[in-house]
Amino acid sequence: MAEKPKLTYDSYLKITPLLECQEPISEAHDEHLFIIVHQAFELWFKQVLHDVDSVRMLFYDKDWDNIRLHKAINRLQRVVLVLKLVVEHFHILETMPPLNFVDFRDELTGGSEFQSLQFRKIEKLLGIKDDKREKYEDQDYQDKMDPNDKEILLKYPNKDAADGRTLRGVVEIWLASTPGIDDSKFWGKYRQNKEELDPLLDESKYKTGSWQMSQRSLQGALLIMLHQDKPEFQMPYQIITLLMDIDVALMKWRSTHIHMVHRMIGQKQGTGGTKGTSGYDYLRATYNDNYKVFRDLFNMATYLRPREEIPKMTDPTGC
Ligand code: HEM
Repeated sequence: MAEKPKLTYDSYLKITPLLECQEPISEAHDEHLFIIVHQAFELWFKQVLHDVDSVRMLFYDKDWDNIRLHKAINRLQRVVLVLKLVVEHFHILETMPPLNFVDFRDELTGGSEFQSLQFRKIEKLLGIKDDKREKYEDQDYQDKMDPNDKEILLKYPNKDAADGRTLRGVVEIWLASTPGIDDSKFWGKYRQNKEELDPLLDESKYKTGSWQMSQRSLQGALLIMLHQDKPEFQMPYQIITLLMDIDVALMKWRSTHIHMVHRMIGQKQGTGGTKGTSGYDYLRATYNDNYKVFRDLFNMATYLRPREEIPKMTDPTGC
């Protein structure tokens, strides 16, 4: 039998081909940095997709024991850290003076980060809906993508995996199974004739709101927040906190990118496709709540009352 080739640092990590992937198309010194920073982002995006997708599958399997929740927490924590880290990459890129960028920006026409397949996958996998996205001149963002990538995105997340549900989709099902949701005595006491809770407990009031999740899932989320100190709710509480952390990290990503773009290109148009977006103005419009995947979880704080006003649950699970 042929002997297995000896593993080396380079052969395992494919360093040689990796370092051959930087091919500047101009003589400008800073184009090298521009390429490295983008590639570093894409590598981290790959890791984020890997972890978010695995968490999605952990939730989809509906066997929500502590081992599963513990794994999900570990991976979500990592996703949050990676997203926080990549924001720092923008600051490294900002060491390139805008005048140096002018030296090679024209060469980039036709290509834009707008076409980053992995970033779009992250958005879709988490649960950002296409019809809620910012359009530019009534054009769908997918029309600016490479046609093959557009095809991939249209089918993403894959129907074979988790029924094509997004992370928000599987979390929604999980929240709706929170023990205690059907404890009508608890809700009756907590409501105390206060109207603010109506959207969560009254079907018709819920329907008039613009919620992302089912009413039952919202009830589950509120129960977890109210009973976060109880051992059975500590892990679920950590999970909903981490989901909000992901949203916050992505919003910080957006805002840091927006300010960097403003500094780099002022009011110039973007470079994507035959015609880029308005650039800074387009990006500013994307900084809105439709891009917050777990907005409903943030809104649950509206319904929190002081601990002494939280009644005991009578649920048979003993919670
Ligand atoms: C000098 C640096 C950069 C400039 C001037 C810049 C500029 C822009 C502009 C103008 C857009 C709007 C789309 C268009 O018309 O092209 C955009 C979108 C985008 N950029 Fe950048 N960018 C820079 C660096 C980066 C880096 C390092 C990344 C990391 C991968 C990135 C990721 C994105 C993404 C994902 C979008 C799409 C955002 C959305 O549609 O919500 N950009 N960029």
